[in-house]
Amino acid sequence: MPEIMPGKIFGFSPSPVRCTCEQAQAFWAEKDREEQQRAAEEAQRKEREAMRARIAKLTRESGIKARFQYRTFDTFQIDKENKKAAGQCKRYADAFNQIMLPTKGHDGTMQPPQKERNGLFMTGGFGTGKTHLAAAIANELIRGGTPVICMTMIDLLAQIKRTFDRGGSATEAEIMRLYQDVPLLIIDDLGSEQPTEWGSTAIFSIINARYESYMPVIITSNYGSGELAERMTPAGSDGKNAKKTIDRLCEVCVGIEMNWPSWRTK
Ligand SMILES: Nc1ncnc2c1ncn2[C@@H]1O[C@H](COP(=O)(O)OP(=O)(O)OP(=O)(O)O)[C@@H](O)[C@H]1O
Ligand SMILES: [Mg+2]
Repeated sequence: MPEIMPGKIFGFSPSPVRCTCEQAQAFWAEKDREEQQRAAEEAQRKEREAMRARIAKLTRESGIKARFQYRTFDTFQIDKENKKAAGQCKRYADAFNQIMLPTKGHDGTMQPPQKERNGLFMTGGFGTGKTHLAAAIANELIRGGTPVICMTMIDLLAQIKRTFDRGGSATEAEIMRLYQDVPLLIIDDLGSEQPTEWGSTAIFSIINARYESYMPVIITSNYGSGELAERMTPAGSDGKNAKKTIDRLCEVCVGIEMNWPSWRTK
């Protein structure tokens, strides 16, 4: 019969006491690691879900989806000229989640991705398939659950500008954060926008933020790097922002030249 001690309440603790023998310590260390990993994966899944919802909204609002959604690798016809570019893009999409993204180290710091040049810089004449291939990468990744933003430079800037309207659904800071944090940002037709000081500052801050955190970008443009810097420089400006933007892109992107007759006039 247990001794009854007046004034004391005894309760049963549901959390088991861990044995401290060597074998048990190893067992619990492994269990804790698994639990931490599960929690991290769950947090990442939730973060990505929230990001996908934000992207879906953004995509709906700017009408990007209809323009890009049917451009896939399956509908891209391979010929002698475009074979290499198509192969590079397909391999990029296939390897994206394994080697193109930075990883979080044990101490919480961001580690560079396995592939140092984790972006693509696709240049070439009109109608050569740059947007088609960029959209094919986007569609493949989105299908696999990776959030991607694929926008023309003009739409991207317009989207930021819309946040200036009173009653807009997102703040400028939210949109800029999304452009900076999304696993893959594709900027289509860089250099086709009318250059302004505000625009070149906005582009620089997006590219620079992604550059600093090793986040990949894909650029398509009708202009090579030298000409592009000129195109992005507003009249009367020293072009510093444009040059710094292109400089960073050249460092982190693999160049793909697509120079052949336009598919549109075939
Ligand atoms: N190899 C291909 N197979 C099938 N369709 C193609 C191919 N190349 C281009 N196209 C189609 O041709 C059209 C023009 O291609 P796209 O828009 O990708 O060209 P672009 O290089 O981005 O041109 P621009 O510089 O004018 O923006 C699109 O409808 C695209 O789907
Ligand atoms: Mg295009």
